[in-house]
Amino acid sequence: MINVENLTKTYGQARGINDISFNVAKGEIIGFLGPNGAGKTTTMRILTCFMPATSGKASVAGYDVFEDSLNVRRKIGYLPESVPLYTDMQVPVYLKFVAGLKGLPRKQINSRVGEMMEKVGLTHMAHKFVGELSKGYRQRVGLAQALINDPEVLILDEPTIGLDPRQIIEIRSLIRGLGGERTIILSSHILPEVSMLCERIIIIDEGRIKAMDTPDNLMSQLHSVARVQAKIAGPKDLVLEGLKKIGGVHSVDFKGSAASGTNSYTVEFVDGFDGAHLIPRLASEQKWDLYELTPAKMSLEDIFIKIVTDEEVHV
Ligand SMILES: Nc1ncnc2c1ncn2[C@@H]1O[C@H](COP(=O)(O)OP(=O)(O)OP(=O)(O)O)[C@@H](O)[C@H]1O
Ligand SMILES: [Mg+2]
Repeated sequence: MINVENLTKTYGQARGINDISFNVAKGEIIGFLGPNGAGKTTTMRILTCFMPATSGKASVAGYDVFEDSLNVRRKIGYLPESVPLYTDMQVPVYLKFVAGLKGLPRKQINSRVGEMMEKVGLTHMAHKFVGELSKGYRQRVGLAQALINDPEVLILDEPTIGLDPRQIIEIRSLIRGLGGERTIILSSHILPEVSMLCERIIIIDEGRIKAMDTPDNLMSQLHSVARVQAKIAGPKDLVLEGLKKIGGVHSVDFKGSAASGTNSYTVEFVDGFDGAHLIPRLASEQKWDLYELTPAKMSLEDIFIKIVTDEEVHV
């Protein structure tokens, strides 16, 4: 449904994105994950024909985004990063205007606008002008305009940003419900959000794709790295030094002290080696009390940080 080949965008001297390639199948929900300035919005702007790429190819629903932009725009619902809204229109008036622009049959417009306002929780704001709305409510109007013509492809740039917690839950379930039939690309900084909503995650950093896989595979990819959490009562500096000297230890992080006088450390071993049993041995030799030794699971957040900081991890 979406094909992207070697897409590059430079802003003068500055790098936007560099040689990005990926495909999205019909009905798939894909998440762009990456830190600020990674290139998520740039990629989305090119796909939605908002601006041209410097080089490379991209197509949506079989239409080339450079040559056939009108057809591409017809297929796509786009929630941009900063939602441009007509501030002097009342909410339903604005949505009716957008629905008309998008070619919705006149007879369907009223009921569709009502339905969308209900879906994104805007019904009680019907009398307000767009300019009077708070940030979260404007975001809801942005979502409603992206969804109004029930497009086949949805490109949502940080769809839950600025929403309150209850609305975040509702919008996430709305997005999840849209998958299957529609093809969705969304971007987020929120790791649990992408792992919850998306079948595949594309991790972007510094304009390049660092990893592209299912949330499960991204997790298991790094499971060969053993990490444990150790709670030890003993002189912190000596314990840190001792743990670092254990053969096969890659890194040791001090995690904090408890009132009981114990300190917590995270010990990570080199790839493919699990030396957790060496920690009790060291503690007993040094006469430190070992209170706890538990496996530390890698969260998606850790994987994200590892992938964007560790040059050795490639997919
Ligand atoms: N109009 C522009 N002119 C010059 N440089 C730009 C422009 N838009 C983006 N960039 C640069 O391109 C890079 C990618 O930016 P982009 O907005 O795509 O990042 P992002 O992943 O969406 O980040 P964020 O999470 O902050 O939204 C950044 O280095 C940014 O400074
Ligand atoms: Mg962005």
